[in-house]
Amino acid sequence: MIRVQSPANIAFLKYWGQRDAALTLPCNDSFSMNLSQCYTTVALVPDDDPSVQTLEITEYQKNSPRPATEDERARVVQFHQTVVQFLQISEDNHRGFRITSANSFPQKAGIASSASFFSAMAMAFARLYHADLDEQRLSRLARLSGSGSASRSVPDGFVWWQHGTGDEDSFATSIASPDFWDLRDIVVLVHDGEKKVSSTQGHHAAQTSPFFQQRIDTLLSRAAAMKQAFLDRDFEQFGMMVEQEMVQFHSIMMTQQPPLWYWTEETLRVIKHIHQLREDGLMAYVTLDAGAHLHVICQAADVEQLVQKVSAIAGVRGVIVNQPTIGTRVRDDRA
Ligand code: DP6
Repeated sequence: MIRVQSPANIAFLKYWGQRDAALTLPCNDSFSMNLSQCYTTVALVPDDDPSVQTLEITEYQKNSPRPATEDERARVVQFHQTVVQFLQISEDNHRGFRITSANSFPQKAGIASSASFFSAMAMAFARLYHADLDEQRLSRLARLSGSGSASRSVPDGFVWWQHGTGDEDSFATSIASPDFWDLRDIVVLVHDGEKKVSSTQGHHAAQTSPFFQQRIDTLLSRAAAMKQAFLDRDFEQFGMMVEQEMVQFHSIMMTQQPPLWYWTEETLRVIKHIHQLREDGLMAYVTLDAGAHLHVICQAADVEQLVQKVSAIAGVRGVIVNQPTIGTRVRDDRA
């Protein structure tokens, strides 16, 4: 059996918009942190019969697995096809697989569960064919799953995905190890009334926003400034840029066609609360992906106080405190 564990990640600089959908090539660089308490573990049992292709999912806090839906299974079967092409495995040598996947966090909660799942699957499928891919190739392969942010779950700690010139050089690398900076991400789960639109559909429509080109034109200089603030461990400067980036990213989503509005009343309430806490001297900044739930970024020393304050806000259903962590690993290799 092959067992792989991989973290979800939170993007400080967001990936939004693709320049090549088939190859999942992004329009811009992105930057994220791996999340210690939000991860997927996959167990893959090889089968000599290539027609055996099963997937079971053990959902968060459930004891027994359920069979995957046909859509979920189809994406995995399709990804297997991508992997055999990538590894140039001839059809005679294709293998079958029985996969069980389990999440340490609620699925479809606006935390990147497809990033943790597909990065884990990239390594599990590579191992199925005894391919020991280096990190860059593994990150590329994870990207080709179609869940581009999966490329950022592969390397350790704080991770930069360079958009690259093409398939070969669009991969993610670590720019700092998990212990570089004691940042925390408090995932704040709020009531989520919206019907989900997949990120894939969202990426396709990003360029219809009248502000999209302006975002791309200014991204390089903003990315450089954010990276510098990060490397200087300048929390106020860094946090401010992370929050500005989030607002810009949501403005793009709100103005693309069809528009995507993910903020709920509760989202806004938490954001305003964090702003008030900052005015009162408690430093924390907010970012959100394509969902209503929030990620409160803070320093380790403030985490307890923030958890207490945020948990008391009306509409908050729960919190998950994360620290930076390593990337995709065969389970037994994890420290
Ligand atoms: C908003 O296409 O990687 O999270 O739907 O999880 O496959 P999945 O997402 P993906 O897009 C991620 C978009 C984002 C921003 C980011 O993580 O950079």
